[in-house]
Amino acid sequence: MRMVDLIEKKRDGHELSTEEIRFIVSGYTNGEIADYQMSSFLMAVFFQDMSERERADLTMAMAESGDQIDLSAIEGIKVDKHSTGGVGDTTTLVLGPLVAACGVPVAKMSGRGLGHTGGTIDKLEAIDGFHVELSTKDFIRQVNEHKLAVIGQSGNLTPADKKMYSLRDVTATVNSIPLIASSIMSKKIAAGADAIVLDVKTGEGAFMKTEEDAKKLAHAMVGIGNATGRKTMAIISDMSQPLGFAIGNALEVKEAIETLQGKGPEDLTELCLVLGSQMVVVGGKADTLEEARAMLEGVIKDGSALEAFRQLIEDQGGNPAVVDDLSLLPQAKFVTELPAKQDGYISFMEADEIGTAAMVLGAGRATKDSVIDLSVGLMLNKKVGDFVKKGEALATIYSNTQDLAECQEMLYNSIEYSNEPVEAIQLVSALITD
Ligand code: URA
Ligand code: CA
Repeated sequence: MRMVDLIEKKRDGHELSTEEIRFIVSGYTNGEIADYQMSSFLMAVFFQDMSERERADLTMAMAESGDQIDLSAIEGIKVDKHSTGGVGDTTTLVLGPLVAACGVPVAKMSGRGLGHTGGTIDKLEAIDGFHVELSTKDFIRQVNEHKLAVIGQSGNLTPADKKMYSLRDVTATVNSIPLIASSIMSKKIAAGADAIVLDVKTGEGAFMKTEEDAKKLAHAMVGIGNATGRKTMAIISDMSQPLGFAIGNALEVKEAIETLQGKGPEDLTELCLVLGSQMVVVGGKADTLEEARAMLEGVIKDGSALEAFRQLIEDQGGNPAVVDDLSLLPQAKFVTELPAKQDGYISFMEADEIGTAAMVLGAGRATKDSVIDLSVGLMLNKKVGDFVKKGEALATIYSNTQDLAECQEMLYNSIEYSNEPVEAIQLVSALITD
């Protein structure tokens, strides 16, 4: 087989065989195929797309390009959740304990944050003593005993994706549905998922700016999941404004605990119930989404969801007392309100910009090597649709510096007003199962 012939085949819109796709992925991963040929191939995919079968083959070839986590020693259907990324997205912290309390095993591998979006591992490390370095044996035992464990990314998972993603980044081929979908799904499959629930974000703060593109990506990923024997469902959810009120590591842990206590923000709670219902259904613990939702509401009410979080903290070396005493979380030195400069209905709160305002306080990483400050961040007091009076607090800034000019300016720039009432944003716009 020669790479040049396969580039030509894809360039002319023909379908590649399973064997040909494997040749490309393994050849590129082990260095036999050069960057210039792979670049050309990726651009051909960008313009010619891939069939559902080709997408599934590409995904599996990438998933099998490095280590694969074997979770077969865990009883039950292992369900993983993936979000395409957002600002103040605290769902993983809530969902893990929530669905574990319903009996679904959650063996979660999570990452750190980069840029204005936070990572689950960073957030959990805001809990004193919490560590994410578990051996595979302890990870599996903990999930079997308590249904829930979280580890950091380790080993050599999907090297093909790492190499292809870096190349796509510099060849204008990131924004291709078959390439994004196979990239995301290969990582979930390599991490051992039997079933996958996807939260595809749309809006200013998201990768997919329009609902139409978000739906296309969701269908592509569900198609790959179903073609590779992993039951997969997706929702489309809004990320034009941040999710919940908290943005920042310790602040989001606090928000997660409050949500598990049934006292969380309405949007975060609703999103967790929608995604959680899907996880409970694909995990085989309920037959319908309605039944699953009732189970989830039940474990919030009777305290077992919060108990699952307490158990997770205890199992992984953290101080479980934090669940009852939120003042044990890292505290910022300065708490400053951001007063509104005018009256009006809030018509827009740009998620990206607000995430970046939290990042400049130190809540996120500007570069891969930045050290983050777990105590700092923002609490929004208002969301789109709310009326605000001049002088009223739009948000509260938690910082370890009194020099807030850059953060304040970004926040003011991120908010738009209307004199007329504005409808609240619909959080979940579609459910995609095929
Ligand atoms: N996220 C991924 O993991 N891969 C992509 O290609 C795009 C976003
Ligand atoms: Ca939040």
